[in-house]
Amino acid sequence: MTQLRWFITGCTSGLGEAFVRSILARGDKVVASARGDVSRLSSLKDAGAEVISLDVTSSPSDIQAAAAKVLKGGPIDVLVNNAGYIEAALAEEASYDNYMSQFETNFFGVIKTTQAFLPHFRERKSGTIVFIGSSGGIAGEPGAAPYCGTKFALEGWHDCLKQETAHLGIKSVLFELGFFRTKIMHPENVRTFRAPGIADYEHIRNMVGQFVEGMNGHQPGDPKKAVEVILDFVRAEGVAEGKMLPDRFPIGTDCLATLRKKCADTLVVCNEWEHVIRSTDWE
Ligand SMILES: NC(=O)c1ccc[n+]([C@@H]2O[C@H](COP(=O)([O-])OP(=O)(O)OC[C@H]3O[C@@H](n4cnc5c(N)ncnc54)[C@H](OP(=O)(O)O)[C@@H]3O)[C@@H](O)[C@H]2O)c1
Repeated sequence: MTQLRWFITGCTSGLGEAFVRSILARGDKVVASARGDVSRLSSLKDAGAEVISLDVTSSPSDIQAAAAKVLKGGPIDVLVNNAGYIEAALAEEASYDNYMSQFETNFFGVIKTTQAFLPHFRERKSGTIVFIGSSGGIAGEPGAAPYCGTKFALEGWHDCLKQETAHLGIKSVLFELGFFRTKIMHPENVRTFRAPGIADYEHIRNMVGQFVEGMNGHQPGDPKKAVEVILDFVRAEGVAEGKMLPDRFPIGTDCLATLRKKCADTLVVCNEWEHVIRSTDWE
């Protein structure tokens, strides 16, 4: 396969960092980005990546300027919308600011970054866009209302985008990840679950706190393996050789269980209630 040039958001740790290292190991080029000082990416630069500063919550014009700078160095073949974090708050307790902050990064940050690169992909009539979704975008869980909201929103937005851009030679795929061992659940990164809140929810808040603490560092998924699968799909090699790029793809045993349960539950409703569901059409 010809050498590809990738652009990745959120490369200081976890999946983003793993993407950069695996991409370089496969002989592709990569522009790694992170918010703040690019010296945070010095080890990736030393490994061979180009680096640039990008906070995905920046204004559309600032993100377009960053994309223009990246494209000055050559075309981009693959955009990976990776940057994100967890705002772990209950649906009623989460403040408007909690929701806005979470959507600014995980949803609007993705839209702005994708929109900044789409003119380039349209002009070239090619390009692949990778979205990092979550099992939290398949089924909600207590204590993750803002996060799950963003990942569900991403699923819908991607479905629309995919159909609107397919005729332009642009491919896109949303990977739904289960729990993977990165810094995402580190107490410094998970926001808000310790905040005092409504007494009626105390037991749920405590349960969520214990779950996050117990899961941090013990997630079943290995981020390097997830990234290798994603690279196989984008490059149509390895496990994805000769396969079509799917619209969405679950990664991780826990995510598979979540998806299977949702499919089964959905089919039960469709099958048991079909006569009622169909009963509302005009005669
Ligand atoms: N790990 C999992 O279990 C899991 C499961 C499903 C989906 N995901 C998704 O995978 C993606 C990567 O997460 P991860 O697990 O690798 O976690 P991580 O190790 O915490 O990495 C998150 C990355 O996103 C960056 N980031 C956060 N806000 C940003 C912003 N406004 N602008 C630019 N970069 C920003 C962080 O940069 P800073 O260092 O500056 O904070 C960091 O580089 C996220 O979208 C997450 O929702 C992860």
